[in-house]
Amino acid sequence: MRRKIVAGNWKMNKSVIDAQQLMVQLLSYKNNHTPNCEVWIAPPALYLMMAKDIFEKDEIGIFAQDMSEHESGAYTGEISADMLESIDATGSLIGHSERRQYHGETDSHCNRKIKLALDKGLIPVYCNGETLEQRKAGEHFEVVKNQTEVALFTLSAEEIRKVVIAYEPVWAIGTGETASPEQAQEIHAHIRSTIAAKYGQEVADEISILYGGSVKPDNAREIFSQPDIDGGLIGGAALKLEDFSRIIEAFQS
Ligand code: 13P
Repeated sequence: MRRKIVAGNWKMNKSVIDAQQLMVQLLSYKNNHTPNCEVWIAPPALYLMMAKDIFEKDEIGIFAQDMSEHESGAYTGEISADMLESIDATGSLIGHSERRQYHGETDSHCNRKIKLALDKGLIPVYCNGETLEQRKAGEHFEVVKNQTEVALFTLSAEEIRKVVIAYEPVWAIGTGETASPEQAQEIHAHIRSTIAAKYGQEVADEISILYGGSVKPDNAREIFSQPDIDGGLIGGAALKLEDFSRIIEAFQS
């Protein structure tokens, strides 16, 4: 059975007071509801320790938004897999399109980060997806296949089972333009069959593939009902409990 997950990526938002307030609200929500999915958040790195304190019983999975491809040393501004392990974080997002766009990250970087994360017992949430130009040129299937192969295909079957993938078409992130449920489903199925071709169907069927890109309370249910969509990676709508909780509740068992 693959995991069903609704994850919030807070990106570079919220003061410490606002972050604390939302975490406390989320804790109370989680203590009073039994969602049909796991709930994860990726707050700014500065607030990860606070998140671990607030969710002391692991009510919610705590993720970094990025981590270094290096183990330790002179890499100013970076945080390592070791550091995340030492605070008992759940995992890290890896290869988010904003890291690719503004920090030149490639799938080779992602590959090294994913390996390091797995070595430390962290869950890597590997993000991929095509740009608008690539979609317009009809290259989206090829682009996503290539991303998946470069980032993941050095892993053993045992390792890849632990990876969560988030398909986030760049043209749908923060734009209000969501991939239609059919568009998302066909890419998710394509990612799964790319994995099945190398690792076999049984392994591919175990991997959770989340959709991200303008998921909102009013479109979440239809997106989550697709057979190869195992949840969502939510940006803007994860910043308010009201919206995020409605998205969590859109997840039907
Ligand atoms: P939005 O939900 O704001 O489009 O962001 C999606 C995203 O990038 C999550 O990682």
